[in-house]
Amino acid sequence: MKDIITLAIESSCDETCAAVLKNGRYILSNVVSTQIDLHKKFGGVVPEVASRKHIENIQPVIQKALDDANLTFNDIDIIGVTYGPGLVGALLVGLSSAKALAFSLSVPLIGVNHVEGHIAANFIDHKDLNPPFICLIVSGGHTHLVEVKDYGEYEVLGKTRDDAAGEAFDKIARALDLGYPGGPKIDKLSKIGNKNAIEFPRVYIDDESFDFSFSGLKSAALNYLNSKKMKNEDIVVEDIAASFQEAVLEVLVNKSIKAAITKGYDKIVLAGGVAANSRLREMFDEKGKEHKIDIKYPSLALCTDNAAMIGCAAYYDYLKGKVSDLNLNAVPNLKLGQR
Ligand code: KG4
Ligand code: ZN
Repeated sequence: MKDIITLAIESSCDETCAAVLKNGRYILSNVVSTQIDLHKKFGGVVPEVASRKHIENIQPVIQKALDDANLTFNDIDIIGVTYGPGLVGALLVGLSSAKALAFSLSVPLIGVNHVEGHIAANFIDHKDLNPPFICLIVSGGHTHLVEVKDYGEYEVLGKTRDDAAGEAFDKIARALDLGYPGGPKIDKLSKIGNKNAIEFPRVYIDDESFDFSFSGLKSAALNYLNSKKMKNEDIVVEDIAASFQEAVLEVLVNKSIKAAITKGYDKIVLAGGVAANSRLREMFDEKGKEHKIDIKYPSLALCTDNAAMIGCAAYYDYLKGKVSDLNLNAVPNLKLGQR
């Protein structure tokens, strides 16, 4: 069978990305142009600034992806692009470019859900991984516990009712003056902090639910910090970081293990930016061994936003005939499994 070459584009948040893949799972190039430095001084992503930067970056990023792969536009068989969820102005930059290219090259356009992309990152790193499995997707915008029944077939078991896990990391890091994005900084500081120094709440909602809630924990951490400041007491930043991190991760790990046991799975797959967290991986590895559940996570580069994961998801959609119309629009609040 002829190789299928996918050009993938991702611009849903603060990274302008393009990648070229062979047969869905093999990366020929993967270009990520991050805007982190640009947004740092605002303490988070400024949507208007992100859109403008995407416009500046998108063409050179796509060209670099082709150059790195040693290919030209004529070699491209299908185009995959993120059309949601994300910032509407940011999404539109990648989507418009993808539509223009699909039209001019006369190749199929495949609109991809960003969260499905995060799951698919694992298919690139683990060539022998196939559904079904349980997947925990934890990023700056999403916290989902999902039953992945087949390629492109999902059942959401639970999701966050308020803040995403990464968002909670970023907000606490900001309160601790650690800068943006906060997740990696808290991860690093926690290694020298005492995770049992402060007993922050673990919010399980109830025994039956696979939903998450992090706003109570976030408030508890902020209140702790404020009361220490008001009393002029010393703040041990690394202890707060480690105690907060442990409270977030414990709930994520325990709920995922429970979902696997309840639904009869022996495989849990992690995805999204927070899956880069070293303590999360350590806790999952430990619990996985204890319950004889195989734990898989993507390489660090494929945990955070990139276009290779979008290309992989697009490839499997294409094989199933899920091709998009050229009038595809950006859907900022696109739900998992919805088209
Ligand atoms: O997947 P991603 O790049 O973007 C979204 O789709 O949201 O995830 C970014 C999020 C940020 O909130 C960032 O703080 C968090 O992932 N993150 C981490 C780590 N690395 C990135 N959180 C905890 N520990 C890390 N090592
Ligand atoms: Zn993401």
